[in-house]
Amino acid sequence: MQPVRSLRLEEIDLSSIDFWALSSEEREGAFSTLRAEDPIRFFEEGEIPGVPIEKGPGYWSLTRHAHILEASRAPEVFSSARGATSILDLPSEMNEFFGGMINMDDPRHGRQRRIVSRGFTPRALARIEAAVEKRAEAIVDRVIEKGECDFVTEIAAPLPLEIVCEMMGIPESQTQLVFERTNLILGLGDPEYAPVGTNLLAAALQAGSELAALMREMAEERRRNPREDLTTALIHAAGNEEVLTNDEIASFFVLLVVAGNETTRNAISHGMKALCDTPDERRRWQADFDGLAPTAVEEIVRWASPVIFMRRSLTQETTLGEKTLREGDKVLLWYNSGNRDEAVFKDPYRFDVGRKPNEHLGFGGAGPHYCLGANLARREIRVMFREIFRRLPDLEITGPPEMLRSNFIHGIKRMPCAFTPGTRS
Ligand code: HEM
Repeated sequence: MQPVRSLRLEEIDLSSIDFWALSSEEREGAFSTLRAEDPIRFFEEGEIPGVPIEKGPGYWSLTRHAHILEASRAPEVFSSARGATSILDLPSEMNEFFGGMINMDDPRHGRQRRIVSRGFTPRALARIEAAVEKRAEAIVDRVIEKGECDFVTEIAAPLPLEIVCEMMGIPESQTQLVFERTNLILGLGDPEYAPVGTNLLAAALQAGSELAALMREMAEERRRNPREDLTTALIHAAGNEEVLTNDEIASFFVLLVVAGNETTRNAISHGMKALCDTPDERRRWQADFDGLAPTAVEEIVRWASPVIFMRRSLTQETTLGEKTLREGDKVLLWYNSGNRDEAVFKDPYRFDVGRKPNEHLGFGGAGPHYCLGANLARREIRVMFREIFRRLPDLEITGPPEMLRSNFIHGIKRMPCAFTPGTRS
């Protein structure tokens, strides 16, 4: 892929929904212009139809890798507490409910992160490892005889969803509900998930409340009957360990399903598309799967950049690059752009399964909010591709991907694929 610079600097408007409907080559071109000509540029905010909140004062756009890292590493200046996932200032109850700790600063963030990290230790991940393999095998079993399927909904999406549900101990009968409600929360800009005229905030709140209600019920149940799952670990203290309240566990669950599902599934879908578009890279990885898996997985995350931005707000005046930012200003960290920064990545538009070094920002900058699920996601991506290469080795994408219309999630909604049919294992 090569970026197309069809817009001059003054014509670029990251707040316009039309910008996000441009081809990816044109968007890449615009971000490369921003990095080169005004890497900390101010944008007015746009109106969002269906959201009854007044538009805010605008935001600074950080498009260079170095500035994004600098902001991520200074959380006392670049705060998450006014909302990390929305440009609009949402009411604080909504921020807490939807994002939980992703929308908090220390000390509250540190406390929650310490508690929930119990579910992501190497020991906890080793326990989930077998489940990841078993689920990946079952996913391929469900499609292998057909010879064709939708890659996103039948191959990429089920694994992360099933794994988050399995970690928390959600019954299988509820996974579809979890899937639909997360789609709605993250696909709010897309008319397929929230038809024109929908009150978007009300729709998101409704979906979130349903997920939270499911979690509260589960937490109550686990208080009575503890099991070997993350839900139990978060509410039962060993010794003088801290625990989460019912409300905290509900919003942590909403964060986990939202953060863990869409991201990983999009990494797998974009990764498959990139491998089909670059047959040499695919052959290279297929010929030495284990040898190249560590670098290939990182490259897939860099390439996909499933989370496009995170937001911070200034707690005090500061200088960044050549700009002075004032207290209260909003700042967007455009990870997609940092991940194509020519100053850091050689040939940034080349998909290279052996790329090394690869200091990408796909999981965020190296700050306190760095993705908690990064190792789990790496594992899921690796296992899914191993299963695809082993059992569907000639899988090809057979039509154009249908993209999610969003400035926050780099998503593929559907993507047809075909392969030589095989037998179930
Ligand atoms: C390829 C897949 C994934 C990508 C690209 C991704 C990306 C991100 C990014 C960009 C952040 C914000 C970092 C920051 O603000 O500095 C984040 C935070 C987070 N992610 Fe992921 N993520 C992925 C998979 C997962 C998975 C599988 C889980 C859990 C099951 C997960 C759970 C979380 C949580 C809980 C946070 C909030 C951490 C905090 O605020 O301390 N993510 N992720």
